[in-house]
Amino acid sequence: MDLIFTLLVILPLAAAGLWFRRALRRGPGLKLPPGPTPLPILGNILSLGRKPHQSLARLARVHGPIMLLKLGTRTAAVISSPEAARAVLQKQDLAFCNRSVPDTSRVLDHHRYSVVWLPVGDQWRMIRRICKDKMFSAQCLDAGRSLRMEKLKNLVGHVDECCASGRAVDVGKAAFTTSLNLMWTSLFSADAAELGSSSSSEFRDLVSAMMELGGKPNLSDYFPILRGFDPQGIFRSSEAYVAKCFALFDEIIDRRVKMKSGGDDRTVWNDMLETLLEFNREDPSRFTLHHVKNLLLNLFVAGSDTTSGTVEWAMAELIRNPDKLRKARHELRTVLSPDQLIQESDISQLPYLRSIVKETFRLHPTLPLLLPRKAMEDTELNGYIIPKNAQIMVNIWAIGRDTEVWQDADKFIPERFMEKDIDFRGQHFELTPFGGGRRICLGLPLAYRMVHIMLASFVKDYEWKLEEGTMKVDMEERFGLSLQKAISLTIVPNKLV
Ligand code: HEM
Repeated sequence: MDLIFTLLVILPLAAAGLWFRRALRRGPGLKLPPGPTPLPILGNILSLGRKPHQSLARLARVHGPIMLLKLGTRTAAVISSPEAARAVLQKQDLAFCNRSVPDTSRVLDHHRYSVVWLPVGDQWRMIRRICKDKMFSAQCLDAGRSLRMEKLKNLVGHVDECCASGRAVDVGKAAFTTSLNLMWTSLFSADAAELGSSSSSEFRDLVSAMMELGGKPNLSDYFPILRGFDPQGIFRSSEAYVAKCFALFDEIIDRRVKMKSGGDDRTVWNDMLETLLEFNREDPSRFTLHHVKNLLLNLFVAGSDTTSGTVEWAMAELIRNPDKLRKARHELRTVLSPDQLIQESDISQLPYLRSIVKETFRLHPTLPLLLPRKAMEDTELNGYIIPKNAQIMVNIWAIGRDTEVWQDADKFIPERFMEKDIDFRGQHFELTPFGGGRRICLGLPLAYRMVHIMLASFVKDYEWKLEEGTMKVDMEERFGLSLQKAISLTIVPNKLV
């Protein structure tokens, strides 16, 4: 009864009061962005539907590229044009650089240590600098190249086995396992991956489960007053998963510390975990083991299905467009000999492959609304006021399909990028799959390598056909923590000589 009373009476009154007070404080001449009329209590939650990026794109066509919504008691601004995205991600980056923190990110105090959720400040800067300079710099990534090649060989081996037995490959699943393995080996090095091979598959299941849970809409995010009640049990389940991950990381860290103190000081400990542990040894009160574990969790969760999802979408488009698949294969087989595994250093010689990846990012960004930001203060944006604490969603899916920005926007045409100098490193706001400004994706340099080498491995030495009984590739989307294919792409390979 108390809960219903709170929902029906107190919440709307409180929200209306706050809204009114702010409007008065802002003074005349400054207006809120337009948006659909909110219902009492729920606001515009029902308008989001099962595919919020698509619903928001439709609403933006009516209300414009800067749009305001009420989601429960929260206010959200949706950005849907390159110009407005430039303002949020670059020109006024400082005003919008903090994140709106979802409830599940608070489990075990994750948000207090996590580079993804910490506000911009000393702690966030320290962790970002460690990652940027000591983990994801070109030099550091080059050092881990041969370990990643081993994992790529496993992927090719798996596809070869499917060729030999006439079985279909589940592209998304194979790419997800490979992404996790590539990251596992970059972080913990080959030996640790061997040692922990059962841990790594247990971990794979854990990450999948967390992804699924994280994708469920959580009432506590729309009505923060419900946080303590956890009405759908999402917080409790997340807590259990995160605790399991931390226990696994504890085990790996303990083993490393014991091996080192037992005199096993091999050069192979030249991996990202070692870098993190060195920082911890240098300044244990500032960079604690809790920081280390939370960062490991961030990297795995942020980097696994974003990367594998991109590869699966790219393959789905190529199967639908066999001439483009042939063209990509031709390019690969011109630069590399048959049976030669692609190296990360080959990517620069493969302009068509790079264009395919860009075109995939345009049509199928795996984080279609980026990660949520928030307005630090009431902030003027292109003539509108964005209220303090409003959640900011940049709908890059809508921008990628905007017919005013792209010709034949719905068609998969990688060639458009052969002619245009458009990059996805946060400078061209018509294509920002990794976000932009201070909070641009930290793992971009690793993701760049992983996506290209995995896709090249699927394309170079195989012809592909649909499974018997399947007429066409289903391109339906499933919105969750990241945007995935609703139906997995399972296709049958045939090895070329
Ligand atoms: C295709 C693959 C990937 C895509 C599309 C992607 C996309 C993104 C996006 C859109 C953001 C938010 C940027 C913003 O707010 O402006 C982000 C943040 C982040 N990504 Fe990625 N990402 C990918 C792979 C990776 C990988 C491989 C890692 C690490 C191993 C990673 C680690 C992170 C981290 C730590 C952040 C948070 C940065 C911060 O808040 O300061 N990502 N990513």
